[in-house]
Amino acid sequence: MHSNSHNYKQNHSVSTAPQVKRVLVIDYSQSGQLTRIAERILAPLRQDGNVEVRVETLRLCRPYPFPWTFFGFLDAFPESAHLVAPTLEPLTLRGDEDFDLVILPYQVWFLAPSPPVTAFLKHPLAQRLLGGKPVVTVIACRNMWMLAQEKMKQMLSECGARLVDNVVLTDPSPTLVTLVTTPYWLLTGRKRLLALPAAGIDDNSIAQAERFGRALRDGLQHDEERGPGPMLHGLASCVVNPRLYVSERAGTRSFYLWGKLLRAAGGPGAPGRKPLLLLYVVFLILLIISVVPLSLLIQTALRPFLTQRLTALKQRFEMPSGSGRERMGANGSV
Ligand SMILES: Cc1cc2nc3c(=O)[nH]c(=O)nc-3n(C[C@H](O)[C@H](O)[C@H](O)COP(=O)(O)O)c2cc1C
Repeated sequence: MHSNSHNYKQNHSVSTAPQVKRVLVIDYSQSGQLTRIAERILAPLRQDGNVEVRVETLRLCRPYPFPWTFFGFLDAFPESAHLVAPTLEPLTLRGDEDFDLVILPYQVWFLAPSPPVTAFLKHPLAQRLLGGKPVVTVIACRNMWMLAQEKMKQMLSECGARLVDNVVLTDPSPTLVTLVTTPYWLLTGRKRLLALPAAGIDDNSIAQAERFGRALRDGLQHDEERGPGPMLHGLASCVVNPRLYVSERAGTRSFYLWGKLLRAAGGPGAPGRKPLLLLYVVFLILLIISVVPLSLLIQTALRPFLTQRLTALKQRFEMPSGSGRERMGANGSV
């Protein structure tokens, strides 16, 4: 009797012991911005003894420079837009690991997921690592990411992964300001240009990203990752500005068509691309200084007639996590 009850206690304590949850995080960042954001999200998970965090840092066989040269920057667009994957150095993952949750931070390059992250999703191990797994995407970019996320969703579904949440952090400055400050940052490495606001995501938004980590930690404790998601609702995870959609559509189309032409002229760095790139940059600047402000202006003028369409776009692109703030305190805490 005594030994039976002892056995029972032992078994009982085994069955109620919290299960260790394994989280895979993909890491790639040129300036360190996206890594800083990922680290803030990971902080609460790292502090939890029941969560094991595995970070896989992507390294390229031919790394992209930072800061960029003018031609190097432009030359990256055809392959980015066409989701052509660059070659990665071998991963430290073997493919037979079993993760409970995958956190996939990525930056947007030319309205598509950045090529290093695309390379991971097209890697032969990706299907084995992501198949059937819940994935949280974390985007940090200037402010145009909607159509990149559509491409991301397609690549995730090709891996058999399940998108449960999407967190988006964007540069808080007005679009027309970031169209100057972001290229300046990327081409010089300097975030400040004259009296303009600094390029990139502000420090406060990066610090506040910890709320997503706290919510994921709590969700993992309750096996929420096994459900349909989202785990990050009510945390203002993803706030869409639907007025940028028209510009994104125009930009995506132009990157795709010009990208096709440029790829026909040769691979990355081919001398035959240079004159075409020069021609394209003139076209791109004209596109940016005409389509972006013009489409914003027309949409402001037509606002009463567009409300329904813009609301539908906002709802569609804010899925699955949403822009609601109901789980946030006044200071952004969970
Ligand atoms: C080649 C290139 C193209 C980019 N294109 C876009 C874009 O289309 N939309 C956008 O919002 N941000 C764009 N960005 C900004 C990035 O998404 C990102 O915010 C920035 O590069 C910092 O990322 P990091 O963490 O790798 O340093 C681009 C950056 C680079 C380098």
